[in-house]
Amino acid sequence: MISKPAPTVPLRNGADLPLLGLGTWPLNDAEAADTVATAIDAGYRLIDTAENYRNEAGVGEGIHRSGIERNELFLTTKFNKEWHGHDGARRAFSNSSRLLGVDYIDLLLVHWPNPDEGRYVEAVEGIAALVDEGLVRAVGTSNFKPSHLQRVLDAGVIPEVNQIQLDPRRTRQDVRAFHARHSIVTEAWSPLGPRSNLLEMPPITSLAEQYGKFPAQIVLRWHVQQGVVAIPKSSHPGRLSQNIDIFDFELTPRELDSISALDTGESEITDSDIFGH
Ligand code: A2P
Repeated sequence: MISKPAPTVPLRNGADLPLLGLGTWPLNDAEAADTVATAIDAGYRLIDTAENYRNEAGVGEGIHRSGIERNELFLTTKFNKEWHGHDGARRAFSNSSRLLGVDYIDLLLVHWPNPDEGRYVEAVEGIAALVDEGLVRAVGTSNFKPSHLQRVLDAGVIPEVNQIQLDPRRTRQDVRAFHARHSIVTEAWSPLGPRSNLLEMPPITSLAEQYGKFPAQIVLRWHVQQGVVAIPKSSHPGRLSQNIDIFDFELTPRELDSISALDTGESEITDSDIFGH
């Protein structure tokens, strides 16, 4: 089944970021090629990968196989701490764009802040320079806390997107409030909360029944209806179609709140002051 492409959120520099896209971790090259081609056929226009996933060549192969025009796709990748710095960001861009087989990247993100290295501000500045040159369309960070973002803002760069771990068990209200104050779009990784049994929990299950939808569709609708961009990964064609088919129903404010009430706080969030690559 082919769904209509997802609605988009406008970014400050003029790019339009789809509200729903495909995450590609932990697919290998061969799996990524098949999954990306299937997802594009199913209507996906946002594809998210990373240097660290080691599947950028496969993602590129899937894009090539799909035959889609480059300008119809919003392509996102991220780089590791090895490249934190002005020249490093440029080299990371070169490596990723070569593997992906593209001459520009829509959104390039610093994958983890690695504050012990002390160079994430330079990494973000390096991406901003690539935006100025037209090689990248938007500046992104990933797993940045408000304290990390504040240092970037103090240096005069406003990231357009911060990608964080977010799902109904970890609603990240504080980080999202900070994003909202600075017009930074929130993007959710692991939006389905795969390590909890979220999809079997009420009220997700009861709402799924009520709307004639799958539990994953209720969770993804919860994200996008709040303006949070979600990038679920699935290797199954049926689930890929399911996950993007969420733009024909609407949850009420009370239902959104009942889902947010599943929040268990920050305890299960990977601490980006400690972890990073
Ligand atoms: P699979 O790839 O076998 O479909 P997230 O992207 O939030 O980290 O979630 C990914 C996990 O959720 C994967 O294990 C994926 O499994 C599973 N998943 C993805 N879509 C669905 C769906 N529509 N229903 C149930 N599980 C799903």
